[in-house]
Amino acid sequence: MQEVITPAGRLRGVLSVPGDKSISHRYAMLASVAEGVSIIQNYSSGADCHSTLACIRGLGIDVLVEGRTVTVHGRGLHGYRAPSADLDAGNSGSTIRMLSGLLAGQRFKCRLVGDESLSQRPMQRIMGPLAQMGAKLSAREGKFPPLEIEGGELVPLDYVMPVASAQVKSCVLLAGLHAAGETTVREPAATRDHTEVALREFGAEIHRGDGWAKVKGPARLRPLHLRAPGDLSSAAFFLVAGAAVPGSNLVIEGVGVNPTRAALIDFLASAGAQVRVLNSGLRSGEPSGDLEVSGSRLKGGLIDGRLAAALIDEIPVLAVLGAVSEEGLTVRDAAELRIKETDRIEAVAGNMRRMGVQIETFDDGFHIPGGQRFRSGTVLSQGDHRIAMAFAVAALMADGPVTIEGSEAASVSFPESWSTLRGIVG
Ligand code: S3P
Repeated sequence: MQEVITPAGRLRGVLSVPGDKSISHRYAMLASVAEGVSIIQNYSSGADCHSTLACIRGLGIDVLVEGRTVTVHGRGLHGYRAPSADLDAGNSGSTIRMLSGLLAGQRFKCRLVGDESLSQRPMQRIMGPLAQMGAKLSAREGKFPPLEIEGGELVPLDYVMPVASAQVKSCVLLAGLHAAGETTVREPAATRDHTEVALREFGAEIHRGDGWAKVKGPARLRPLHLRAPGDLSSAAFFLVAGAAVPGSNLVIEGVGVNPTRAALIDFLASAGAQVRVLNSGLRSGEPSGDLEVSGSRLKGGLIDGRLAAALIDEIPVLAVLGAVSEEGLTVRDAAELRIKETDRIEAVAGNMRRMGVQIETFDDGFHIPGGQRFRSGTVLSQGDHRIAMAFAVAALMADGPVTIEGSEAASVSFPESWSTLRGIVG
């Protein structure tokens, strides 16, 4: 499928984005091993989070979806049944990596599969620690899905993560729910802490300090009534668009602003954007608020070190900001971008060049000089939701219509993105 975006004048409006993808996955998984019925409101409409629901259904859990409200009939830590077919994680790295943590403690064997993109993403990062805890795992070429897991009795682990990854941290903590004793995970840079926050809400014994979290097993989780906040990574497209298109003013309602995600807001402010958090509140340990952004003069900036880990999902759209900023954008220490849904360094570079924008790439990032203009033409999503949306934002500022090939990829996290975009143009 394709979408044709015509350049916009100023953007105006009040909008909302789907429930947070990261939080929705975690709520569904934890609800599935809680002891009773949980209700999750504002569950992400994205295909990834529905892959998680399909997988837990495949494990014998009753799941009812009514619009954005999901009811999960949890059956306790050992309530999963051996699936009669492969579990299909679709495009979702979070599904396959985090669910593996729960499957490692089950007394059956199962196989997790994914689409073409997921089948090329590395799984050793979770296979190593889960094997140390006692699960048996095998994968194509030792690292790619399909991933076979034979769970069993787990021993606790003190794991020092070699890469900053919330999916790996979550996987080990979820496996730790099964292991008798304390399982500790230490991270080289802070990553999103939604698993730790949700585990506490569900009643697990979890302790945290600077750069570490530990959970005590075996755990018993209580069912909950939850509501996911809006997804800041989806809001990011509108925040950049609102900041970069002169004369714009947008309000995005009810967005999650967990401090381990909100580096985006601070970065936008440091790059010169006018962005404010209004009406903030806290629900189930997760802060949220309305975000207001106005068209601003943008300076650009540098993303490296710990900031690269904190902004990893937003870098494609921040690249767009970089091109139209005064000083441009440099990204380093972000080699993880190469193993996302697609190689996001090459995908960003390819589309920038298709739109006549200069970019230099490195193994771990890129540099985009500022003060550039986007030309009309055709860009490719490469099947990656964040690439499709990032270049839709670039298209709003182009000198003529831009065709986004593979626009359907956006539905992985934001099926309503194109209608939402149309609603704020003009
Ligand atoms: C996610 C963690 C990040 C992020 C992904 C979602 C999560 O991946 O890129 O979109 O929900 O934990 P890594 O943990 O691989 O960095």
